[in-house]
Amino acid sequence: MCGIVAYVGPQQAYPILIKGLKRLEYRGYDSAGIALLNSKLNIFKTKGKVSELEKLVKDADLRGTIGIAHTRWATHGEPNNENAHPHFSQSKSIALIHNGIIENYASLRKELESRGYVFQSSTDTEVLTNLIEDIQINEGVDLLEAVRIALNQVIGAYAIVVMSHDDNDTLIAARKGSPLVIGIGIDEYFVASDASPIIEYTKNVVYLDNEEVALIRRNKDLKIKTIRNKDKTPYIQELEMNLDALEKGGYEHFMLKEIHEQPHSIQDSMRGRLHAELGAITLGGILDYEQKLINASKITIVACGTSWHAGLVGEYLFEDLARIPVEVEYASEFRYRNPIICEKDIIIAISQSGETADTLAAIELAKSKGATILGICNVVGSSIARVTHAGIYTHAGPEIGVASTKAFTSQVAVLTLMALRLAQLKGTIPKTRFNQLLNELELIPEKVQQTLKGSKKVLEIAEKFKDVRNFLYLGRGYNFPVALEGALKLKEISYIHAEGYPAAEMKHGPIALIDEQMPVVVIATNKGTYEKVISNIQEVKARKGVVIAIVTEGDLAVKGMADYTIEIPETEEMFVPLLATIPLQKLSYHIAVMRGCNVDQPRNLAKSVTVE
Ligand code: F6R
Repeated sequence: MCGIVAYVGPQQAYPILIKGLKRLEYRGYDSAGIALLNSKLNIFKTKGKVSELEKLVKDADLRGTIGIAHTRWATHGEPNNENAHPHFSQSKSIALIHNGIIENYASLRKELESRGYVFQSSTDTEVLTNLIEDIQINEGVDLLEAVRIALNQVIGAYAIVVMSHDDNDTLIAARKGSPLVIGIGIDEYFVASDASPIIEYTKNVVYLDNEEVALIRRNKDLKIKTIRNKDKTPYIQELEMNLDALEKGGYEHFMLKEIHEQPHSIQDSMRGRLHAELGAITLGGILDYEQKLINASKITIVACGTSWHAGLVGEYLFEDLARIPVEVEYASEFRYRNPIICEKDIIIAISQSGETADTLAAIELAKSKGATILGICNVVGSSIARVTHAGIYTHAGPEIGVASTKAFTSQVAVLTLMALRLAQLKGTIPKTRFNQLLNELELIPEKVQQTLKGSKKVLEIAEKFKDVRNFLYLGRGYNFPVALEGALKLKEISYIHAEGYPAAEMKHGPIALIDEQMPVVVIATNKGTYEKVISNIQEVKARKGVVIAIVTEGDLAVKGMADYTIEIPETEEMFVPLLATIPLQKLSYHIAVMRGCNVDQPRNLAKSVTVE
């Protein structure tokens, strides 16, 4: 959701900015723009993709060693040329790019209009741009000070970069809520909304904190202060990411690459944490909070989308293994309720990006009530990773495809380790069973690899059903979240309507939908409620529904009833989500490709949802 890139240094800015915008395309956007300063400050912007912007500037003067660039995901105002960023201030003296939402923009705009400002767009961003100019003119302050004063008047979330037509050496950057990273090269600086546009130039970065403003000047040290005018010392960190992780590596789409990375990404999530041979689990990130976990009266998991589905698997795991009550909450609902939270509660916040606005707000709410917050994040240094008391990184590597795949299985892997560790600490699991589960968990990456081999069957099913309008996904127990996740994957990338349901709930409503046109995907692996799920399949068949079943290798009973079956290797019931999700990801992928959809950047979706 919205991407920021900026550069100042000895190199030409345009190629760096355009490449950076392409690296940020995965976040989702609907317009793109760039501002460059040479003899004058020029802005080029257009609705559509970065490739449209490249066409637009084909014959333009693109010289300049300082510039800012942006991909916009529309919030205030439709995605058109006027609303695209950067925005000029009224006198065209400054240009600004912005991620986030200025909530009090309407009153600020009214005030500025009364002072003669005329707006070219319907964005909150142009309001902020003119506010900064107005402060500069009326208070006679420099750009840094004008930005700082303006941000004190702003309610909402922002990551901004500002440049001025009369200063070829300076960028001002600031953030609250939306992320911003500053890359420090030799005599040059890069600014971006995440590290992906920076990594090929430098590994040294500073993550701006909330309400910090950075003064970034050519050939000068980086200066940071808060919007309340307190100086801060920049904390330089080294990025662990490498460039290969940001390329497609021979795959047609990032999503396919990421699906195939899962044997490794799950392994990476467990590396150094799972020691099956020693009968031990070490979770360094939350070591200091183990006693709090033992004493907790309940765990509340907050997350959105796919991460929420992982949380649901977590609920089953924690209750099953560690015998502790768990609630899984949509962060967006939790934050606006009056939830009952006490100091003994543990909140687990799950987020791939670590930037999801609703999840961040849910954390702040729980924190204000004294709860302990543990994070499960993929993006190192992300906002959620930083605001939680402690946490565990999933280490799945960058996820570029908008539809989450490897992040989900890594989140489930980490939750599994947490639940097992807590069970061990609380003594709710016999040692022999614990060791047995650890040994099986160690085999999961290999079993994911085997699961990935069953592509032919999935392709055949995709071909058969690519044109249907509805899908139903059913599962029970640990497979219920898998059904939800399978349905979400299909709808977000192929635009086919799909619903996930607990299998037994079908007869309370969705059964009315079933006819010979309706494919029903049933996760029918051989443990837990297997017999019950077989009855549910019979109910579908009795109404002439078409059943696509995910079954355990060697299964005969379901095979005899279902129209299509996809086998996955045998494993413990609680580890089935790590395997059963894989063919559902592939089914969605192939259907979306066959329908000609933009798999990696589905319409209307953003990779990190930094607005509520
Ligand atoms: C689905 C998907 C979204 C995200 C959700 C939360 O494929 O990607 O549903 O899971 O927006 O995002 P994170 O995990 O970054 O908080």
